[in-house]
Amino acid sequence: MQGTVSKCVETLSSMNKQFKNIQNHGEHPLKSRDTELYQQEYIQSFVEKWDELIDWDARADSEGQFFIDILKARDKQKVLDVATGTGFHSVQLLNAGFEVTSADGNAAMLTKAFENARTKNLMLHTVQADWRWLNKDVNGKFDAIICLGNSFTHLHDEMDRRRALAEFYAALKWDGILIIDQRNYDAILDHGFSSKHKYYYCGDQVTAEPEHVDDGLARFRYAFPDGSEYHLNMFPLRKSYTRKLMKEVGFQRVKTFGDFQETYEEKNPDFFIHVAEKKHTNA
Ligand SMILES: C[S@@+](CC[C@H](N)C(=O)[O-])C[C@H]1O[C@@H](n2cnc3c(N)ncnc32)[C@H](O)[C@@H]1O
Repeated sequence: MQGTVSKCVETLSSMNKQFKNIQNHGEHPLKSRDTELYQQEYIQSFVEKWDELIDWDARADSEGQFFIDILKARDKQKVLDVATGTGFHSVQLLNAGFEVTSADGNAAMLTKAFENARTKNLMLHTVQADWRWLNKDVNGKFDAIICLGNSFTHLHDEMDRRRALAEFYAALKWDGILIIDQRNYDAILDHGFSSKHKYYYCGDQVTAEPEHVDDGLARFRYAFPDGSEYHLNMFPLRKSYTRKLMKEVGFQRVKTFGDFQETYEEKNPDFFIHVAEKKHTNA
């Protein structure tokens, strides 16, 4: 009897492991448009591959000092990274002398970020927190919040976007700033996909491209040299829509950059970076 029970426990635990290594977009992946989905998308095996996809060194070269300069120019020191992922920006900012809290809703991502930082002799201060109820888990007020790597796009529902932005707003000091970046979905929706592949997804062995795009869904496929494939179902944010939402939750000014440049002349950057300020001009 005891043997049978332990066999069952073994089978369940191996099923559990397998489940953790298989993404689950349901029977109809194109209908899978739920904010909660990110938890099933960033499964352990995809998290393990994430750094192959983003390639830290190439990314550091392509972004340069962009975010550090923005924060320093505005005299911001205490930063909350709400989409830590595997820790790239948290580590960059710690190395540059900022005081960083690293949050993410996904436990596997946060664990990987912690491990990555340890290999660089850094200790991350991590908090598992979903943006929709961020202030339940994250204490204190910050000079700046960063939500980078095309993360905000994971919110499929407008109410969730408004809620998350309101939580970010509340976690900032009176003169705090919020930095959100996003893919140039306008270009993808209006003209189809063409990426210079210079930013973020810098690993040259990995393909990252949309498999399906409509007004409510951009489903991207990530293919790795070992033959493994993963998908992310995301909401295609138009630039003006993101800016409008930021203003509607109370941010006073929103400045948008393209492809990590102070000024962008290229008509179609791959990425937009929005910097939103909370401070009222007459404060
Ligand atoms: C595309 S990854 C980017 C990670 C990292 N910033 C980078 O650039 O490599 C998106 C991250 O956002 C997190 N995320 C998505 N939706 C979230 C939510 N509602 N609350 C908290 N974290 C969320 C995911 O767990 C994931 O780590």
